[in-house]
Amino acid sequence: MEALLAPGAGNNQHAAIPAVCAPQEIEMAQSPYEKEQTIQMVKRVVQHAAAGTTDSTPEIYKLPVETYFPQSWDEEMNAIFRRLPLMLALSCELRNPGDYKALQILDVPVLIVRGDDNKVRAFINTCTHRGRAVTPTSDELGNTKTFVCPYHAWRFATDGKLVAVADPRKFGEVDKCSLNLRELPCEERVGFIFVSLTRGMTFNLDEYLGGMLEELTCLEADKWFVHGRPRLESANWKITHDGYVESYHIPFLHRTTLHELWKRESLSSVSIYDAYGPLDCGPHQRMGGNAWGYDPALMAKMKDVPESDYTEHHFHAVRTLFPMISISANKAGGLVSQLFPISSDRCVTVQNHVSTRDPASMSAEETKAMQDRIALYTAVVRDEDYSSSFSIQAGIKTGAVTEMLFGRNEGGAQNFHKSVAHYVAQYRAEKQAASSATPTESKA
Ligand code: FES
Ligand SMILES: [Fe+2]
Repeated sequence: MEALLAPGAGNNQHAAIPAVCAPQEIEMAQSPYEKEQTIQMVKRVVQHAAAGTTDSTPEIYKLPVETYFPQSWDEEMNAIFRRLPLMLALSCELRNPGDYKALQILDVPVLIVRGDDNKVRAFINTCTHRGRAVTPTSDELGNTKTFVCPYHAWRFATDGKLVAVADPRKFGEVDKCSLNLRELPCEERVGFIFVSLTRGMTFNLDEYLGGMLEELTCLEADKWFVHGRPRLESANWKITHDGYVESYHIPFLHRTTLHELWKRESLSSVSIYDAYGPLDCGPHQRMGGNAWGYDPALMAKMKDVPESDYTEHHFHAVRTLFPMISISANKAGGLVSQLFPISSDRCVTVQNHVSTRDPASMSAEETKAMQDRIALYTAVVRDEDYSSSFSIQAGIKTGAVTEMLFGRNEGGAQNFHKSVAHYVAQYRAEKQAASSATPTESKA
C-alpha cells in the first residue's frame, strides 16, 4: 500500500500538516466504525476521481454580502457564540490536575482548569473581590495548586472555591461561600473541552455534536501534544471560516505552495462533504479528499486495491466544529485551528499544531522538522488565505458585488452559512416571542 502514496500522503487537505511520526505510529488500529467510514469515503473519492466529478449540491448558494458587515455582527455573536458550546481547549493542554488555560473570547475572560478530582471546569476569569483576572495574564497556560489574585491576593482553589481572603480581620467579614469564582457550563469529551460563555446556559453535547462525536472519538485527541500555537490575524470571522470548508481554492490560491507540495497533477479537485449534528446542514462538517493527488499511474493502481485494504492513508478529512474550529488531522496529529472573532472585521486564529509525539522525546532533527512545518503552514495561511480575507473584505465593502456565490462544489461552505442563518433565525424568533409575551417589560 505504501507504493500508492504520493509525497505528503494523508495530509493533503487545506492547512493540514504532516505529523512528525514514524510510519508504524501512523498505522494505528481502526475501530469498526473507522474502517467502515474509511471504505465508504475512499470509495466515493475513487469514483469521483475516475469520473472527473465531485460531491455536488443541487444549486449554487447566494449569500447577501451584508451578512459580513457590522450590522450582522452583534446578532451572530449573541445567536451563536454566546449560546452554543465552543471548543475552547484540548484535553492534552490540561493533562494534569492544576493545569489551566486562560483566554479571552469576545468580552469574556475565561479560565479553564483541571481540578484535583480530574474534572475540568470553566470560570469567568474574574476575581470576586474587585474583578481582576486571577491569573497573571488573561491569556496563558500554566499549572497551579491555587489561584492567587495578583491584585489583593485573594486565593481560589482549582474548583473555583474562595479559600482565603488576604488580611481578613482588616478586610471585614465576608460570606466566602457566595464569593466563589463564577462557573461557566463546561464539558470534556474525547479529548476536547467545550464551554458556554453564558452562565446558567445548558447544553447537550450528544445532541449538538450528533455523529460528529464518533468522528472525534476516532482521533484519540487525548493522546496528542501541542507543538506550537501561532496566532494569525484575518478579516471577518465568516470570511476567515469560508476558506476552511472548501478545497476549490487549493489548486489556485495555493498553487505554488500546498498544491505543489502535494504534487497534484490536475487543477480539478475532489471533495466529499458530510454534515453532522441536529440540522440537515450540520452544523458540523466533514470535508474529505483523496490522499494520493491526481497522478494517473497511482489512480490506475488504486482501481486494483481491494476495499478491505483501504486505509486512512488513502483519505484525509478536515472536520469543523461549528462555529469556530477546523480540525485538519488524523489520529497521528495535524492542525486544530480555533477562530476567535474580535470584531466585525477582525478575527484571530490560534493554530494548534498537534502530534502524538511528546516534544520532550523528540530528537533535534524531529524538532527541526516540526518547526519547519509550523513555519510553512503559518506562512501559507497568513500570506495566502488570510491575506485574501482582507482583500475580500475590502472588495465587498465597495458595493461592487452584492452576493457571495458558493458553488455546487462548495457544499461545506453552503452548509456553514445555512447553519449560521438557522441559529440567527432561531435567536430572532425567540427574541420576538419573548418581547410579544411581555410587551410592557420589554418596553421598560
Ligand atoms: S481584585 Fe482580586 S483580590 Fe482584589
Ligand atoms: Fe487555504
